[in-house]
Amino acid sequence: MYNIIEKKNLSKNIYLMKIKAEALVEAAKPGQFLIVKIDEKGERIPLTICDYDKEEGSVTIVFQVLGESTKEMAKMEVGDFFADVLGPLGKESDLLHEEKKVLQKKKYLFVAGGVGTAPVYPQVKWMKQQDCFVDVIIGSKNKESLIFEEEMRKVATNVYVCTDDGSYGSKGLVTDKIQELVELGKKYDHAIIIGPMIMMKFAVEVCKQYGISTTVSLNPLMVDGTGMCGACRVSIGKEVKFACVDGPEFHGEEVNFDEALRRQRMYRTEEGRNILKLED
Ligand code: NAD
Ligand code: FES
Repeated sequence: MYNIIEKKNLSKNIYLMKIKAEALVEAAKPGQFLIVKIDEKGERIPLTICDYDKEEGSVTIVFQVLGESTKEMAKMEVGDFFADVLGPLGKESDLLHEEKKVLQKKKYLFVAGGVGTAPVYPQVKWMKQQDCFVDVIIGSKNKESLIFEEEMRKVATNVYVCTDDGSYGSKGLVTDKIQELVELGKKYDHAIIIGPMIMMKFAVEVCKQYGISTTVSLNPLMVDGTGMCGACRVSIGKEVKFACVDGPEFHGEEVNFDEALRRQRMYRTEEGRNILKLED
C-alpha cells in the first residue's frame, strides 16, 4: 500500500511523486487533496491531487521542500512506502457541477503560480475532456522554477508564461499578465486561481476590476483534515469555514485574504501558533 512508483525532481526543491493508492483513486476528483504521513509519528502533510490514473491505481502529488517533513519526504525513493495516505479530502472543483454546454459557452482563465501550477493541471485536463476553451497563465520566479509547462500546453487552448525576473516568457507577475490579456481584448467570464495566498489575493482584485468572477483554492495550515481541529479556519463572506471540509475551493471575492495571510504568518512562529490555538 502507498508505495512510490515514480519520482521526479521537477525543479530546485520541487518534487513529483506517483503513489500507488488503489482504493483512494477510485473516488479522486480534480480540486481535492490528500494528507500524507511518512511514518506513524510523522507530520500530516496536506497536498492537492495533481493527477490520477484510475487504471493504474495511482495518484500524483507535487511538493516543495519547505520544512523538516518535506525534506524527509524528498529523500524517499521509488519502492519506499508512505505510512498513510488519507483522502480524497475536500470538495471537488465546482466546474464538475456545471453542465457541459454551460462550460463550453463560458471563457475560462486559469491562473497558476509556482508550485500551485501542479494542482491547476488536473482541472485544465478535465476541461479539455469537456471540449472547453481554456487559457492558462503560469507565473514563476524564474525559468528554473517553472513546472508543468509542457503538460499544460497539451491540454490548454493557450498558455502564457511569465517570470518575475524575465528569464523566460514575459517579465512580470501573473497579475500583470491578466491585465495585459484583458487590455488586448481577451474576454473571460471566470478565473480559477491557485498559488501562493498573496498571489491569489491580488489576482482576485485584478479580476474584480474587469468583472471576472473567481475561484481560489486555499491551502491554510491543516492538521486533521476532517473539520475537527479548526486549524484551517478561514473567513468566507460573513461565515467561518474550514478549508478542509468546506473547501479547498471558495469564491475569491468572498475570502478574507488579510486574515488568512495573518494566520499563515503566525503559524510560522511558536508564539503565533499558541495565540492561534487560544483563538480556536
Ligand atoms: P512564488 O512565490 O514563486 O510565486 C509564484 C507566482 O505568483 C509569481 O511568479 C508571481 O507571478 C505570483 N505572485 C507572487 N506574489 C505576487 C503578488 N504579490 N502579486 C501578484 N502575483 C504574485 O510561488 P512558490 O514559491 O512556488 O509558492 C509557494 C507557495 O504556494 C507556498 O506558500 C504554498 O503553500 C503555495 N501553494 C498553494 C497551493 C494552493 O492550493 N493554493 C498549492 C501549492 C502551493
Ligand atoms: Fe482541522 Fe481543517 S484541518 S479543521
